[in-house]
Amino acid sequence: VRIAAVIPAAGYGKRMQSSVPKQFLTVQGRSILQHSVDAVLQNEAVEHVFIAVSENAQHQLPLSRPKVSFVAGGDTRAESVLSGVLHAITQQYTHVLVHDAARPGLPAEVLAAVIKAGIHDDNGAIVAVPVRDSLKRSEPDQLIISTNVARDNLWQAQTPQLFSASLLADAISEMGTDNPALTDEASAMEFIGYHPKLVMGSLKNLKITHPEDLELITAFLKV
Ligand code: CTP
Ligand code: MG
Repeated sequence: VRIAAVIPAAGYGKRMQSSVPKQFLTVQGRSILQHSVDAVLQNEAVEHVFIAVSENAQHQLPLSRPKVSFVAGGDTRAESVLSGVLHAITQQYTHVLVHDAARPGLPAEVLAAVIKAGIHDDNGAIVAVPVRDSLKRSEPDQLIISTNVARDNLWQAQTPQLFSASLLADAISEMGTDNPALTDEASAMEFIGYHPKLVMGSLKNLKITHPEDLELITAFLKV
């Protein structure tokens, strides 16, 4: 067993509305990307990190250091992930731990739990949290409630997500990197018949998405 982390970091962060992509913003002295890389390297089982970046972001990366390499990202998150997974396979890694660059607050115990749950199981494992709020479905194009959606057994998927590298590469290729239903690695694995395990995540593992998330993560990353 040899585990590499794959960090998709080639997005533009449209919802964040900042001039630089959100993963390059500084929080508590380091970029969000650096925090995310450090978070996955907290676990000694992770031997290497492949970061998928877009070409015009390469100049923002003073991150040359042991255990880290950069690979070309793509137009979709799935394409960026597949690029990293294929590099990991070329370098003889058997498993990949995919983690969003935009999740800098990953707790060490959550990381350890997903590795433990997925490493000896072809189904793999993902981090997720139970849905907290009531769910409503609206009428199409109208701000009015149509139905309530039962919340039982509903989870919000986070990362990291741990899988066999070759199974995940097959899954993403089969489903197609531009398939809108391919929203995370688990969805690709489900597409080829697997049932990934769920591991309890944390609010601290939030994905930086909107400007106000910066206040939350600044508090969570406080030393
Ligand atoms: N990502 C990527 N390649 C893409 C799109 C996204 O590597 N073509 C990465 C992002 O950099 C991020 C992670 O996937 O670390 C999760 O995606 P998301 O939070 O949606 O980031 P963005 O796509 O950058 O943001 P937005 O959807 O608001 O534009
Ligand atoms: Mg996006």
